[in-house]
Amino acid sequence: MIDLTSLLACPRCDSPLTGFRCTPCRVDFPVRERVPWLFAEPDSAMSEWHNRWQLALAILERDRKRAAVAQKDSSDTQALARLEQLVLGYAEQKKCLGRLLEPLAHHAGADLETHLALKTRPPTQQGLLTYAANMFRDWCWGEEENRLALEAVSSLLKKNGPEKILVLGAGAGRLAYDLHQSLDSAITVALDINPLLAYAANRIINGETVTMWEFPLAPRRAEDVAIERALSAPGPAREGFHYVLADALRAPFKTAQFDAVVTPWFVDIVEEAPAKLLPRINRLLETGGIWINHGSLAFGQANPADRLSLEELISLSTTCGFGEIESSETTVPYMNCPNSRHSRLEAVVTIKAVKQTDTPQPERHQALPDWIIDGRRPVPLTRSFQSQATVTRIHAFIMSLIDGKRTLTDMADVLEQQKLMQKQEATSAIRGFLIKMFEEEGGGRGY
Ligand SMILES: C[S@@+](CC[C@H](N)C(=O)[O-])C[C@H]1O[C@@H](n2cnc3c(N)ncnc32)[C@H](O)[C@@H]1O
Repeated sequence: MIDLTSLLACPRCDSPLTGFRCTPCRVDFPVRERVPWLFAEPDSAMSEWHNRWQLALAILERDRKRAAVAQKDSSDTQALARLEQLVLGYAEQKKCLGRLLEPLAHHAGADLETHLALKTRPPTQQGLLTYAANMFRDWCWGEEENRLALEAVSSLLKKNGPEKILVLGAGAGRLAYDLHQSLDSAITVALDINPLLAYAANRIINGETVTMWEFPLAPRRAEDVAIERALSAPGPAREGFHYVLADALRAPFKTAQFDAVVTPWFVDIVEEAPAKLLPRINRLLETGGIWINHGSLAFGQANPADRLSLEELISLSTTCGFGEIESSETTVPYMNCPNSRHSRLEAVVTIKAVKQTDTPQPERHQALPDWIIDGRRPVPLTRSFQSQATVTRIHAFIMSLIDGKRTLTDMADVLEQQKLMQKQEATSAIRGFLIKMFEEEGGGRGY
């Protein structure tokens, strides 16, 4: 048996951990309900996720109230039944989140300062429920999708019989679990930043049945608007399976601890450029170890230069110390919920690459720039800040003109008199802005 802690290194200073403690940093990384929190600043990460949890609850409550108001206003019996189900679903989902996120319950208030000091922060685009659908696919209705993913990855790993597998961005954990159950690895570590996925997966993988409510995008029947799901695994994971909460961009492991690293549906959604991510994956592998990338290649990185084609990704792999690269492509169903008319077909790419040499490492991942962190450097006047400033000024001016009496045309006249815009241009700019405001406040329904 391999002890998880023997693989770990501090995400702040890279020193080996003693148990879950970094002696040089004097930090004890907490373990809550068997899941270690291995973020550089675990307390702040907990506070941050606590806040995201509260935000998710507030949104569910807002949606519940909207549905309840609609239910009260409706006299149609079919609509009433549908709305009743929705109200119930939102209310129950809040309780489900409460049960799963109990380990966060005592962490009120985000400690932004500490995040800033350490230059880390869970990426803002990752909400608690961003990947909630993965839980239902993984542990309820996604048998075919799960099987296809397992076949694609395990067929490439089987020959090598890896002993130590790391899954980065493991999500709700099904692929990591299936790999662990079907290969003979001594240890499989599933890593993700999202505590909802981690706690749901951890309970399920240990044999519990977890209840969550699914709200399909295009419900087939009225009662499908909110569905109570019982999420469970075929059986408890065999010994050696671990789920850890951490940032893959500061993966809390000593160098070269794994003989397989799997990145399922991950490299294209993570905020970091592939040119930095691939060296980090290289570092985690021993020489001869295998990196398997599986999933879409729909790079969403902000910089267009980082949205690589398959050919570019393969070339980059070779410059990052990988060789013997194989890739294949297959079209698979994606999020094919049986109660929804919405689903996708996705051309999924599987890449296998063998680590041949070490590669220079990028600097430690920094979530925010120094001019935000230390407050003593000039805030750069970027092109996007400049255009934002102009737009904000105009929007603020338009808002100041709303007095309950002026028409849209009156407001365009003022903008023209102030020499801010030509009348025609002003009319369409104000209309665009008011449409946005109108939609944001719930299409005039005053929500
Ligand atoms: C598209 S989902 C894929 C999930 C899973 N691999 C699957 O195939 O279902 C991407 C996952 O990456 C996780 N993630 C995003 N950024 C991360 C980071 N910096 N470190 C670790 N996990 C991250 C998300 O929480 C999410 O679970």
